[in-house]
Amino acid sequence: MSNAEWRKEKNEGMSEFVTVAKVGEIAPGTAKIVTIDGVAMGVANVEGEYYAFGDVCTHDDGPVAEGELDGYQIECPRHGARFDVRTGAVRLPPAGAPIPVYPLRVEGDAIQVKPEPK
Ligand code: FES
Repeated sequence: MSNAEWRKEKNEGMSEFVTVAKVGEIAPGTAKIVTIDGVAMGVANVEGEYYAFGDVCTHDDGPVAEGELDGYQIECPRHGARFDVRTGAVRLPPAGAPIPVYPLRVEGDAIQVKPEPK
């Protein structure tokens, strides 16, 4: 396989949706931490809607997905920065930059995430 073919296959592989949880496994108001290709992310359930976001705080690399989920906001457990899980936008300092968010779909009872930031 040539380098170009290998890269193409790898890139195509990266763009696939990956099943990370089953519907019902993530209780409303909570987030599950998952890893796809070494990328840690949180999958939040907000009243039955699911959102995938990066698990690394832009303030000081805190584990955002381990924090409390309050509506659409997840609070970093280290210094309390808040991010909107729908967009990654900062809602409360000390973080200044958004976290990535990822495409997510529900197929049957499978929650699937594409590990490429939106
Ligand atoms: S590391 Fe997240 S608020 Fe500081």
